Amino acid sequence: MSNTLDKDLLSKMDNVNVAGHESTENDDAQLANNIEQAEPTTNRDAIGTENKVVPEFYNKAQKYWAEVPATVNGMLGGLGYISAIDIQGSKNFLREIKVPGKKLALDCGAGIGRVSRNLLMPLFATVDLVEQDTAFTEKARELCTSEEGGRQNSLGEIYNVGLQEFSPSHKYDLIWCQWVLGHLTDQDLVAFFRRMRLSLEPGAYFCMKENVSTSKTIIKDDEDSSVTRPLALYEESLKEAGFRIVRKVRQQNFPKGLFPVYMIACRPRT
Ligand SMILES: C[S@@+](CC[C@H](N)C(=O)[O-])C[C@H]1O[C@@H](n2cnc3c(N)ncnc32)[C@H](O)[C@@H]1O
Repeated sequence: MSNTLDKDLLSKMDNVNVAGHESTENDDAQLANNIEQAEPTTNRDAIGTENKVVPEFYNKAQKYWAEVPATVNGMLGGLGYISAIDIQGSKNFLREIKVPGKKLALDCGAGIGRVSRNLLMPLFATVDLVEQDTAFTEKARELCTSEEGGRQNSLGEIYNVGLQEFSPSHKYDLIWCQWVLGHLTDQDLVAFFRRMRLSLEPGAYFCMKENVSTSKTIIKDDEDSSVTRPLALYEESLKEAGFRIVRKVRQQNFPKGLFPVYMIACRPRT
């Protein structure tokens, strides 16, 4: 999850112990200021919509992830130790929103299936995955079908495609997107949200869990070809796509130095 952190911060975080630490708004603001000074943009579509720019944005991300090891550490930008805290925060969030259906969930930008295996598979009879990197999906298949915990019946379809091109062929009880939406252009983000809205069972939720910037600016990361958006921009995009935001919670107990991470649950606006 390289876009969780500014790369320069990683070195500063070497000695940070997760337990008991919680980043404060002041810390975040200070860190975000440092980052944003490096490459600020206030454009609504920071990535650009010109024909050449958009494919390059996706190709570059694909190349970046192709070099990342298919491990939890790889998925979390070297911060594998935050996985348990992250999953616990997501479990609490799902408990609060009370998802009515328990049959089929979708994990978007699933990587090696960390979220599927630890969060979704214990709750849903079947979990489908969308992930653009084939090495990650091979690993996800292995991890999500291991005998341990009798999980072999829970893995559904694996779609090896970018979210910008993905159109579900099923209706889901829950669609979960985590640490991937920064890899979509603003235009593709809204179009993706619209397709997800149309792929929900009645009463189902669409949830996203993403880093957000602490100011009004979109922060570009040229290394992994992603952006970190302000929370307000995600909210605006969800509404534009026809969603109603039902619950919004900030993840607690992450180490200092990370961008704030928000979970947002939505339902189609009626
Ligand atoms: C930070 S990892 C997060 C993985 C997983 N969601 C988790 O939390 O463990 C980002 C994942 O998004 C995937 N990804 C990047 N761009 C994507 C795109 N356009 N469509 C689908 N997946 C993408 C990467 O290959 C990588 O597996």
